[in-house]
Amino acid sequence: MKICVVGSGGREHALATVLRRHHEVVVTPGNPGIPGSVSTPATELEADLYVIGPEAPLVAGLADELRAMGRLVFGPGADGARLEGSKAWMKDVLVEAGVPTAAHGTFDSIEPAFAFLDTLDGLYVVKTDGLAAGKGVVVTTSIDEARDAVRDYLSGEAFGDAGRTLVIEEGLTGPEVSVLAICDGTRAFALAPAQDFKRIFDGDLGPNTGGMGAYSPVPVATDDVVAMVMNDCVAPTLATLRAKGIDYRGVLYAGLMLTPTGPKMLEYNVRFGDPETQVVLPRLTSDLGELLAQAAAGELRDAPTFDNGAAVTVVCAAEGYPRDVRTGDVIEGLDAASAIEGVSVFCAGVTADADGRLITAGGRVLAVTGQGADIAAARSRAFEAVGHISWPGLQHRNDIAASAII
Ligand code: AMP
Ligand code: GLY
Repeated sequence: MKICVVGSGGREHALATVLRRHHEVVVTPGNPGIPGSVSTPATELEADLYVIGPEAPLVAGLADELRAMGRLVFGPGADGARLEGSKAWMKDVLVEAGVPTAAHGTFDSIEPAFAFLDTLDGLYVVKTDGLAAGKGVVVTTSIDEARDAVRDYLSGEAFGDAGRTLVIEEGLTGPEVSVLAICDGTRAFALAPAQDFKRIFDGDLGPNTGGMGAYSPVPVATDDVVAMVMNDCVAPTLATLRAKGIDYRGVLYAGLMLTPTGPKMLEYNVRFGDPETQVVLPRLTSDLGELLAQAAAGELRDAPTFDNGAAVTVVCAAEGYPRDVRTGDVIEGLDAASAIEGVSVFCAGVTADADGRLITAGGRVLAVTGQGADIAAARSRAFEAVGHISWPGLQHRNDIAASAII
């Protein structure tokens, strides 16, 4: 097949790399670090299958536009993508489908929001309803900080219109796990579970980011946990969507917290996770293109298979991330990092200068994945590779997957 991947980040680099094991791949718009990047828009490219990476084009209806042209597309239409486009609507769907989730309320004015905060038990979660690149969530034990977030969001100052409606939740505790389900509208297969590190600093300190690293498999996410997620969360959600006339063909990314009272759904995303994709897909031993084509056609048949090893990815971010970032620095050491056995470097926020050198151009610049027989081996390869990479102000976490070594 000729496959067109839409997007320009580390996730799309990983998708393209793994699809290319069996197929021809172009990436639009891609970036100068992703081989096969082209500037032609997806609607003007001929391909046998289109795989849409980021949420924004899904929410904007790119999958619908391509399907209307008769193309085979992996990615939900705008109707299904609303699960990620509106957290308030997602919560309504979770409740309707009977999926366990945090107690919550939806607000567009200050007084009722403050009143709901007062009913919570010491851990407060305030989220923008709309898209905020993974950054529109405040989790805090300080009611003053929670109130400040409510004020900032509702005023439009923090996240524009995305924050003018907000969701407030009870805070949950426990390890987090991401289960990415490949859906064909009716059926779904789980990919190997992963765990993402959302906070910017070691020890889960500092503000939330789009994700600073990940590993797979996840010891706490046993086969039983994954089966429970598929049976009690993903299946009823697909059925609820279908009852609303939504034919969901794409990734349903279940972000769960394994709480003392059982797994609870924090959120659905409507796409592959970033950086989960960079650890899950390299472990795939079956044909990714075939899997996604079957899902896109509504004919999922063959369950994906994974190696028995492990993968760890460490995100190298620019100075200032997740706030204002420094850009324009030459990235050194890429060749030495990539030359290490079992290491893949996926490029995200990069561009090229006049001499063709890769330079930093965004918050999350690279995801460096190491694979090995177990988490410890994968982790040491990833960090060995990261040690070769440098630019002024590079920041990365040192504790990715450290607690998963058993
Ligand atoms: P979300 O974008 O909804 O996944 O939230 C981003 C991150 O905030 C999650 O990965 C969690 O680490 C944290 N978070 C979200 N909701 C809750 C909650 N109800 N309780 C505790 N932490 C949460
Ligand atoms: N890694 C979190 C996300 O993709 O939203």
